[in-house]
Amino acid sequence: MHTVTLIPGDGIGPEIAEATRQVFAAAEAPVTWELCYAGQAGITRFGDPLPEQTLDSIRANKVALKGPLTTQVGAGYRSINVTLRKEFQLYCNLRPVKSLPGIKTRYPEGVDLVVFRENTEDLYSGAEHQVGSQAAVGLKIITAEASRRIVRAAFEYAAAHGRKKVTAVHKANIMKFTDGLFLNCAREVAKEFPAVEYEEVIVDNLCMQLVVRPGKYDVLVAPNLYGDIISDLCAGLVGGLGVVPGANLGADWAIFEAVHGTAPDIAGRNIANPAAMLLSGAMMLEYLGERPAAAKIRSALEKVLAGGEAQTPDLGGQATTAEMTAAIIKNLGR
Ligand code: NAI
Repeated sequence: MHTVTLIPGDGIGPEIAEATRQVFAAAEAPVTWELCYAGQAGITRFGDPLPEQTLDSIRANKVALKGPLTTQVGAGYRSINVTLRKEFQLYCNLRPVKSLPGIKTRYPEGVDLVVFRENTEDLYSGAEHQVGSQAAVGLKIITAEASRRIVRAAFEYAAAHGRKKVTAVHKANIMKFTDGLFLNCAREVAKEFPAVEYEEVIVDNLCMQLVVRPGKYDVLVAPNLYGDIISDLCAGLVGGLGVVPGANLGADWAIFEAVHGTAPDIAGRNIANPAAMLLSGAMMLEYLGERPAAAKIRSALEKVLAGGEAQTPDLGGQATTAEMTAAIIKNLGR
């Protein structure tokens, strides 16, 4: 049994976390959950968006599955997601983006990409301040250490998973020092992996290419801001935020989470799609070495998606979260 910290999160988080718990229990996945709170739920229960009890639980268990958390725009407490990534040195944000059966996309040939996003620095370092009342400044921080670390993670993944190519994403034509340093580090690391092809692409061109011909790419590696944007773009290629899992990985800790946010427009209505959180849970099981349980859950979900009946409204269906969850459970082991 693995003890895992479960943070249901805000908005639709509790609904999809409950669905995940039910599927894991029915699949007899060897996981015991330790329930913790953060975000608005942390404030409501403990007066703190990131209670010490939650941090202690992750510290001890080393692995967490997290629902989405509310982040106030332009004011309020600092993003809890960013804080967690910093606290646990989760430098690598990994998002596999793959076409799923039964989910229509614009790409009949299918999409199969993996995005590696540097998770600790760049314009997300939080180093910004107001200059008088009419200006503000934010620092884009890129270090050689963090750049090498994320590029190495991408190449190691490519080598281990039989991927052919790693593409470094940048805007070094304009940001010659910061993105220039990132690129130099990528070139250096690429030399350690001669069996994996290496290429570079400017981020705006990449966005266009991804929409037109996503099959051109295999593994993408990017600094934080570009990585954030292209990973959501990639989610859109395969059916949207409701079906893409994610992981934040470091040397000692790992937090798995769906890519989407709290979906306030549908929260509490029992129509949230639990697929992304479930797929994140399946990734977590693989990370824990529990491949059969991960495969069982993924296969049951794929059967439901392929069947096309028990699908939530975001997928074009009319099923509730509870109905889709029940259908997944029914398909376990089939
Ligand atoms: P969002 O991802 O919550 O919603 C965008 C659209 O996608 C909405 O129409 C929503 O209904 C739909 N959607 C998202 N997940 C869905 C699901 N599982 N099933 C069905 N439909 C789904 O993005 P938005 O509106 O920009 O952000 C809302 C809040 O979430 C903000 O406070 C934001 O800061 C936070 N957020 C948190 C994240 C995290 O904790 N990892 C990630 C992204 C946003």
